[in-house]
Amino acid sequence: MTVTANERLGLAPTDPRPPAETRPAADRTETNPLFGDQKMKLGLFGSNCSYGLIMSHAPSSYEITWEHTKEIAQRADRLGFDVLVPVARWKGFGGSTNFNGNCFETYTWAAGVAEATERIAVAATSHLPTMHPIVAAKQATTVDRISGGRFALNMVMGWVPPEMEMFGSEQREHDERYAYGQEWLDFVNKLWTEEGTFAIHSKYFDAELLEAYPKPHQGPRPALINAGNSPSGIEFSARNVDFNFASLDTLENIKGYTTKLKAKAREEYQREIHAMTYGLVVCRDTEEEAKRAFQQVVDEGDWGAAGNVIKIAGSGASQSFDHAVKEMQERFIAGWGGYPIVGTPEQVTEELGRLNEAGMEGMIFGLIDYNEELKYFGEEVMPLLKQAGLRH
Ligand SMILES: Cc1cc2nc3c(=O)[nH]c(=O)nc-3n(C[C@H](O)[C@H](O)[C@H](O)COP(=O)(O)O)c2cc1C
Repeated sequence: MTVTANERLGLAPTDPRPPAETRPAADRTETNPLFGDQKMKLGLFGSNCSYGLIMSHAPSSYEITWEHTKEIAQRADRLGFDVLVPVARWKGFGGSTNFNGNCFETYTWAAGVAEATERIAVAATSHLPTMHPIVAAKQATTVDRISGGRFALNMVMGWVPPEMEMFGSEQREHDERYAYGQEWLDFVNKLWTEEGTFAIHSKYFDAELLEAYPKPHQGPRPALINAGNSPSGIEFSARNVDFNFASLDTLENIKGYTTKLKAKAREEYQREIHAMTYGLVVCRDTEEEAKRAFQQVVDEGDWGAAGNVIKIAGSGASQSFDHAVKEMQERFIAGWGGYPIVGTPEQVTEELGRLNEAGMEGMIFGLIDYNEELKYFGEEVMPLLKQAGLRH
């Protein structure tokens, strides 16, 4: 075993009694709306990245400036949305839009958004191989303290080779990414919860005299999200996280997926997991207008960027996007492979209800023009969701 700096330098040990304010201040069910009782939770996805969820030149006032992303976050907060989930990207997907290439780093984005909002949960999306657990745990704790216990961590394993290569190391094979993710999360969980010092000796990490203060604001730990949909991804989710995100083609398949996911968590890990989905929402006064707006996204699509995404996804880098690659290329252009909801406020409400019945307890979505369409969503769809008993 290596000699630690403490031993080498003859340092006095840390007093094992940390001050009271370093402990969690509240149970997360009291602070984090992700653990609230809305039947169908609502969130925004991708409002930190250029073009959000659409690979398209369809007209929109959406832009990546701090003022704009903050305004969207504050609007969603005022409307009672439950969560904001950013996309983690280190470079764009090329094409005429360089899709998602102009984007804010997600922990620092979450810190700013947390300070600018009051009630909504704020996530950071973290590529686990790009950040040491000590740094991640500390950043997450800091955002959780800023937000008063509204933080969530969306853990992604890094499925896009060109951006992982920017970090100078070879991408791990698919299932090994999840094995690394497990050790990474075990490390972070210990930093979040353990008092005093501890050691970690595992396959990927080897460290002595670890400690971290303060602990997160919400106890026992912040909300955890993962969007793994492959067998190893589902295993990781069932074992560890509070929310799994998935998008499937039909309601029947969604029902099958959510039933199996929840049963797996219960039977194999004696814990509860919630399922949520994602996609593009296009809501207009008439069905025809909504369909036209959706079609415009497709017609003005950036097929170069979409082709790049499809090539990467189809290369086996991600196992779960395979179905979408073959059958639903439009879904990438209009909604990042997610579940599209296109129609009138009544139709959007009905579809959210159907997703809920199929076991989805929430949806995070993008809009062609987040800021403008959120106003409409608040006025026209929110009241109907309440009438339908999906929200209160
Ligand atoms: C809602 C959602 C958000 C995601 N966010 C990101 C992201 O920001 N960055 C990223 O590299 N991958 C992201 N992913 C990809 C997933 O982490 C995951 O790799 C993908 O769903 C494939 O699943 P698999 O890893 O089990 O094959 C996201 C997926 C979903 C469904």
